[in-house]
Amino acid sequence: MSTVVLADAGHHVAGIDSSPTLTAYARDGGGYDEVVCGNATELPWLDSCADLAIAFMTLHDIPDPAPAIRKIARVLEPGGAPCVAIVHPLNRSAEKLQEYFTDTRFSESVTRKGLTMTFEGADRPLESYTRALAAAGFVIEDLREPRADAAAVGRAPELAPASRQPFFLHLRCCRVSPTPRLGQFRA
Ligand SMILES: C[S@@+](CC[C@H](N)C(=O)[O-])C[C@H]1O[C@@H](n2cnc3c(N)ncnc32)[C@H](O)[C@@H]1O
Repeated sequence: MSTVVLADAGHHVAGIDSSPTLTAYARDGGGYDEVVCGNATELPWLDSCADLAIAFMTLHDIPDPAPAIRKIARVLEPGGAPCVAIVHPLNRSAEKLQEYFTDTRFSESVTRKGLTMTFEGADRPLESYTRALAAAGFVIEDLREPRADAAAVGRAPELAPASRQPFFLHLRCCRVSPTPRLGQFRA
């Protein structure tokens, strides 16, 4: 969701990215109270200052998602929710899937329509994220594998494989209840 939509709905939005170029674009795009150029493992905000944290397509790029997820837990208020979008851990070549459990950094260049971009990231198992979320006190309440529908493939035919296999993974989480009432079955 665009931050402009959030701001128009009355929310206060702060963002962070380690790229000066991306943070400049984010500031220009509007909707933010503040955009920080920094490391997601060192969030500059107060404890319990936010009710929602969105880590959109970032945690799969950083060397270890666990410190960033711990920082998300710190800045979220007790009822706060983290939402995570990552490249689906199964979205890699058959050769790379042979080493599914191995955490591997990669750097690969892709050229499309004359423009070359270099992607830096990590292939790691899904468990790397779910364990880090659980260790930070979160449970997953929804998990989605968005697919490209016919309209999307019509607009961008290169998305056809994304209608048959998962490209992305979305997680919506909440805190584990801080007051478990183990063994209590009746009021
Ligand atoms: C795939 S892009 C997504 C950018 C943006 N969230 C979006 O959805 O348009 C991944 C982003 O992660 C940022 N990034 C990588 N490592 C980071 C880190 N340790 N802390 C903060 N941002 C990081 C990169 O600069 C890059 O902008």
